[in-house]
Amino acid sequence: MSSLIADAREKARALDRDDPLAFTRSEFNIPTKTQIASTRLPDSATTAAGPGHDSNDKCVYLCGNSLGLQPKRTQTRLNQYLATWATQGVQGHFKPLEESPLPTWLDADERAAQLIAPIVGASEAEVAVMQTLTANLHLLMSAFYRPDINGKHKIMLESKAFPSDHFAVETQLRHHGLDPSTSMVTLTSQINPEDNILTTAEILSAITAHASTTALLLLPGIQYYTGQLLDIPTITAHARAHQIFVIWDLAHAVGNVPLRLHDWQVDAAAWCSYKYLNSGPGCIGGMFVHEDNSSVTRPITDDKPEEGYTNRLAGWWGNDKGTRFVMANKFHPVKGAAGFQLSNPSILDITSLSASLEVFGLAGGVDQLREKSVRLTAFLEELLEGGIAEEERALFRIITPRDPLQRGAQLSLMLKGGLLETVMHELERRGVIVDERKPDVIRVAPAPLYNTFEDCVGFVEAFGHALAVARQGSA
Ligand SMILES: Cc1ncc(COP(=O)(O)O)c(C=O)c1O
Repeated sequence: MSSLIADAREKARALDRDDPLAFTRSEFNIPTKTQIASTRLPDSATTAAGPGHDSNDKCVYLCGNSLGLQPKRTQTRLNQYLATWATQGVQGHFKPLEESPLPTWLDADERAAQLIAPIVGASEAEVAVMQTLTANLHLLMSAFYRPDINGKHKIMLESKAFPSDHFAVETQLRHHGLDPSTSMVTLTSQINPEDNILTTAEILSAITAHASTTALLLLPGIQYYTGQLLDIPTITAHARAHQIFVIWDLAHAVGNVPLRLHDWQVDAAAWCSYKYLNSGPGCIGGMFVHEDNSSVTRPITDDKPEEGYTNRLAGWWGNDKGTRFVMANKFHPVKGAAGFQLSNPSILDITSLSASLEVFGLAGGVDQLREKSVRLTAFLEELLEGGIAEEERALFRIITPRDPLQRGAQLSLMLKGGLLETVMHELERRGVIVDERKPDVIRVAPAPLYNTFEDCVGFVEAFGHALAVARQGSA
């Protein structure tokens, strides 16, 4: 081990000892190196890396930007849900059980909305836990994208948007009989076209330039590839001043950086919950609709109640709870984001999500976590700059903005061409899990809920070795 790494490890251990949030790591199942190397489904009794597992054998998992680790309480809550279903059947919908920490299934969406609201900076009525991210983007656009071919008809997004967002926009346009080649504006940075790090000034000036023909702006809170955190309040205010409806894709921002969606006057937003929210792969997503955009002003008894709310693609779960079970074919949405729900939600999903959100409560919320996250990511950055031998250091560059205010937990590392496969293989061999974006990027994200400063050292040490192997292989 180099003395640089040995010194860094000592420093990291001291930082971990002094970390007031260190306790949340024990809330998670951190896979061991043996487990991640294994190709066999483990016996469920040994799945949780509890007693019997050497804590020194934990893998270095820096992949919360892709899939968050499993909270231990997820298994407990899911077992309680299964026990409710097994013993109560349909009664689980409405019969509260003594000593149960779980809401009745009829109330599960509301309870989950209460838990998620502070994480995105919204009132409870402004959020709904529902569907999945791409589906929610479509639902939001179905309600709020009203193109006028002679006026505002364009949708603006970044040129390197996550493909699902790009597909959603293209197909929304086609759905309205519009041609993406004339109704889609894609933003490319002139200042940094290579990595497409868009400055706020560039975004604002594009909005101004296209304001008279643009109806909707869809941007990521944090860009999935570069890890760039956009200036959500400034961009939102500018777009709204030009009568452009603003939707944020918060896949990489939710649970990662503090959000104040209500105060920032964001029109609408959607997110998934399997990254920094640790709910499990493909688990239920969520959406935010600002209270100004979701009012219901006419009662169902009016002649034309449908004129009292924004039209949308609706389903029975968005109907006002008071009349939902009357089963009359007269849609009357509940006020707020919940009025955009379609189906009765998967309680399996909501239970899993709510279990992981309990852990955010224990940590004291995203503001607390962010403070640690900024320090963790800066520590990782410092080690990448100073803890790797010169020859290997020349083989990658950090493309994520260096300013902590312009990034979340993630650093994206652009490797020299042709090294990715070997580097990923060598990292995995050393018990390090990060993710790759072909052709040349590795994304590394220390998540403050379960990562340690020592994890950052473990990554950098392994990365240095992996680069050396890749360099020798390509020499
Ligand atoms: C930025 C972004 N948008 C959209 C998606 C698609 O999410 P989903 O498959 O949950 O619809 C992802 C998935 O990782 C993403 O990172």
